Amino acid sequence: MDIATLSHRSSVPRIPTLTSPSFDRNQNSACMFTVLNDIHSALRWIIVLLIIIVLFKSLTGMYNKAYNQNDRRFALFAMVGLHLQLIIGLILYFISPAVNAALADTDLMKNATSRFWGVEHIAGMLIGITVITMGYMRAKNRGSDWARHRTIFFHYLIGFILILATIPWPFRANGIGRDWF
Ligand code: HEM
Repeated sequence: MDIATLSHRSSVPRIPTLTSPSFDRNQNSACMFTVLNDIHSALRWIIVLLIIIVLFKSLTGMYNKAYNQNDRRFALFAMVGLHLQLIIGLILYFISPAVNAALADTDLMKNATSRFWGVEHIAGMLIGITVITMGYMRAKNRGSDWARHRTIFFHYLIGFILILATIPWPFRANGIGRDWF
């Protein structure tokens, strides 16, 4: 390879930079969307499983069982998973084609798909996550183990119902429903 070819090659940036002609903003954000959406989709199952365990433990715990470290840990893991999902969800909210289309829809509240992606998913999840977080915090200050289990059970149950109702399950209408994984 002669020196002219070498010097030409070295002047071409290997990684596209913001100013290089090969940088494609849309392509980058589409890739970021796919990765985050896949993580968001898979994390749902971990959260659903953790909440079911917490509900089972707190319900059986109300029958004369101590609120131990193990109970507290599962309640904490479910809450942390939800907060992680909240952060990923908020990033997705700004790059999602479904949300973009919904927010551009002048009939947002009349169109079921636009209403789901523009309002229902984010509102249902925000309220559900808040109720569960409040339950975890309140349980700390309860005077007895029975009261701690009860606080966890009812808050996590209400939060879980809201979360289940606003997940875009595959059986939901066309435009709302997404894959199982
Ligand atoms: C406030 C919190 C949340 C926000 C802002 C949010 C936002 C979003 C957005 C923007 C999408 C992408 C829609 C698309 O273009 O396809 C999405 C998809 C989804 N979200 Fe959320 N989300 C939140 C919380 C949650 C939670 C807590 C769960 C479940 C535990 C969840 C489950 C899902 C599922 C299953 C999908 C579909 C993923 C797929 O395409 O397979 N989200 N969410």
